[in-house]
Amino acid sequence: MKRVFSGVQPTSQIHIGNYIGAIKRFVDLQDDMDCFFCIVDLHSITVPQDPKKLYENSLQLAALYMAVGLDPNKVTLFLQSHVPAHSELAWLLQCNTYMGELNRMTQFKEKSKGKDTVTTGLYTYPVLMAADILLYGTDYVPVGNDQKQHLEICRDVALRFNKKFGETFVIPDPLISKFGARIMALDDPTKKMSKSNENKHSKINLLDTPSKIKKSIMKAITDSDSEVRYDVENKPGVSNLMTIYNILGGLSLEDIENKYAGLGYGAFKKDLVEIVVLSLEPIQKKYEEILNSGEVEKVLKKGAEKANEVSNEFLEKAKINMGFVVF
Ligand code: TYM
Repeated sequence: MKRVFSGVQPTSQIHIGNYIGAIKRFVDLQDDMDCFFCIVDLHSITVPQDPKKLYENSLQLAALYMAVGLDPNKVTLFLQSHVPAHSELAWLLQCNTYMGELNRMTQFKEKSKGKDTVTTGLYTYPVLMAADILLYGTDYVPVGNDQKQHLEICRDVALRFNKKFGETFVIPDPLISKFGARIMALDDPTKKMSKSNENKHSKINLLDTPSKIKKSIMKAITDSDSEVRYDVENKPGVSNLMTIYNILGGLSLEDIENKYAGLGYGAFKKDLVEIVVLSLEPIQKKYEEILNSGEVEKVLKKGAEKANEVSNEFLEKAKINMGFVVF
């Protein structure tokens, strides 16, 4: 069975970009692949975190993973900080990664832009991510489009390591869907929907109330035209909303265009509100049940046991091949 690994940071709320680009797709993979889905809490401290919020967000994300349909009997769900091998392999890989490679990372450039100081953790973020993936002999990594460059550096580092120290790691392939891998911000469709955007109407979070969803969609930037037509270049706002409509509502882009021909944006947006609310409703209901059931801690403990078992094998192999004394 092929192995899958992916992770989501427990920083603030999870939005529909994360859902469509990644988490929803995790659910589709769980029946046919051996999946490890991680809450990458160590990655989130690369930018300042309020300890209380980090704690809450980590458990909430675990509950959300289950609420969207990940079955802990089929997949391994765990917290990155519960598996020390991640930090240890990250160090071994850091000593085999070049500053020139990290200097090219666009996400680092974006996240550090305009900041007086940035942590070295933010700089070496992609190496910890490579460690996450390589520790599980991962074949496929389902992610959104913004992680493409991080996957490339992961592959480069793994290939280099194997060449230098002998076959150690499986070289992973990204799984980036052709459609929906980059959901754009509702207030500016030239930027991706992002957790760190302070405008709450730039995104729809999975736990948003129906009235917040309605406000955000009705306020979403479109254009001065009134035709519901998929044209990313000339109509990025409408095209982004159509993408969300298609993925959550199941209607093809062509059918959406036909349905709203001559009706304008109002009717289209109104229906989109309903589609989003209806798709999030069961997730929110299940989320509340799971969070109050005491199940989350049990699942994470069991997940950590399995993750430690698998990752320690790869870590040991890497250490032996590098020349460390392992008894
Ligand atoms: P994070 O937490 O920023 O995002 C989680 C997942 O959501 C995807 N995503 C999007 N997809 C479509 N449209 C968007 N607007 C959008 N915004 C985010 C991301 O691509 C991601 O798949 N570095 C990762 C976490 C990570 C990881 C890993 C992923 C750490 N280690 C190992 C895979 C494998 C991140 O920042 O995710």
